[in-house]
Amino acid sequence: MRCLSDCSDLRFPADRYRELFDRITRGRADASLPQRFGGPTFGAHEITDRIHFVSLDLDTRTGWPDDLSIFLDQYPRQTWLSHRNFGERMQFWMGVHGGFRELGSALQSATAGFREGDVTPERFRQWFVPRLNYLLSHLHTHHQIEDLDYFPILSAAEPRLARGFEVLETDHETIHTTIDALAEAANGFMAAGSGNRDTLLATGERYADASDRLIAQLMRHLDDEEDLIVPLVLDRGEEPLGISWQDHLRRMREG
Ligand SMILES: [Fe+2]
Ligand SMILES: [Fe+2]
Repeated sequence: MRCLSDCSDLRFPADRYRELFDRITRGRADASLPQRFGGPTFGAHEITDRIHFVSLDLDTRTGWPDDLSIFLDQYPRQTWLSHRNFGERMQFWMGVHGGFRELGSALQSATAGFREGDVTPERFRQWFVPRLNYLLSHLHTHHQIEDLDYFPILSAAEPRLARGFEVLETDHETIHTTIDALAEAANGFMAAGSGNRDTLLATGERYADASDRLIAQLMRHLDDEEDLIVPLVLDRGEEPLGISWQDHLRRMREG
């Protein structure tokens, strides 16, 4: 596969969460499932659990179930910014999410413009390549920090939310699988010569579909991630949880 210019960041390992992803989203019965996933039995409660897990699929869920909204109920969004425990790390993290939303929305608008014929395929390609590369490379780093730093600490701090963090990790894997497909579609679009209009438009349409899918997944993920994490941090505080900037920098130094 030819890569977009300077797009080594478009490629990510895809096997890390595969097994968990399969279990959660497809509800596979498996004797090795941890007890919190319903255990190895096939009773009525496990069927209920399976339905429950399917509903947490990134492409179909509409938010967290009641058992994962215990802190969100206590700290609704409109109270976050003014809360005394909304510290520097949360402000920075939410700012990064804001940047992803802004760029995602710009990519979505550009895709719509291309579909409606407002911009030529050639101009559309010139516009999206640097922005897509920027988004994907930053997403990769962002997810690494969350998987390795935020999620393990917060999950251990509040075991009642552990399943939510596993779902968020699975979201990252789902998003990275979509990114792989998007990179392939983008490369096909870039490789299409301007001479063959039908091929150019068809590859552009394929890219637009993959891009829209990524942005939809990302927006859902950002909302749910914030709804799980911010209320917990407000309840406990960044320093007591060990996720302040000082804690983060110390862990980086220690490797
Ligand atoms: Fe995330
Ligand atoms: Fe995030």
